[in-house]
Amino acid sequence: MNMQTIDPKRFRSVMGAFPTGVAIIATAWEGELFGATINSLTSVSLTPCMLLFCTNEGSATGSAIRKRKLFSVNILGHHQSDLSARFTGKQRNRFDDLAVAFSADGLPLLQGAAAQLCCRVSTIHKAGDHDIILGEVISGEEAACKPLVFHKGVYGIFQRA
Ligand SMILES: Cc1cc2nc3c(=O)[nH]c(=O)nc-3n(C[C@H](O)[C@H](O)[C@H](O)COP(=O)(O)O)c2cc1C
Repeated sequence: MNMQTIDPKRFRSVMGAFPTGVAIIATAWEGELFGATINSLTSVSLTPCMLLFCTNEGSATGSAIRKRKLFSVNILGHHQSDLSARFTGKQRNRFDDLAVAFSADGLPLLQGAAAQLCCRVSTIHKAGDHDIILGEVISGEEAACKPLVFHKGVYGIFQRA
């Protein structure tokens, strides 16, 4: 059997060839807001409506979502690369001075996003150094706004081919 595996740095670089959107997953737990930038978002099922994202096992937001069992997904618009940087950076309270609304369940919804969804955690699978969090979708809204795109470590704007 051939046990050869790709070098992680190379894997990361090669996967950068696959462009994605950018989203901020968020929740509220014990009076604190948590949010992190992700691009591992995938729609999974229509019956029931489910999506997934992958979270690093050290993520504070992933940990809060595992406890709260509810989370929002804020799909960023083309004008929101600053938010993507903020929600991956070292700033302590990432929600400071931001326009935030709250869902009926108290989940943070970032204003100006291209789309927003609210989800209930359905299952969590361990996968290497990440958890795959599957969520059942409770609600979703979209705005007439072009998405932010991420490709090879660079932010861009979607353009019709
Ligand atoms: C474009 C982009 C996409 C990212 N995608 C993911 C992802 O899918 N899963 C993940 O765990 N981290 C991802 N990250 C890194 C997290 O945003 C980063 O580790 C963050 O600081 C986690 O915050 P937390 O520990 O407060 O939850 C991404 C970062 C960027 C800039």
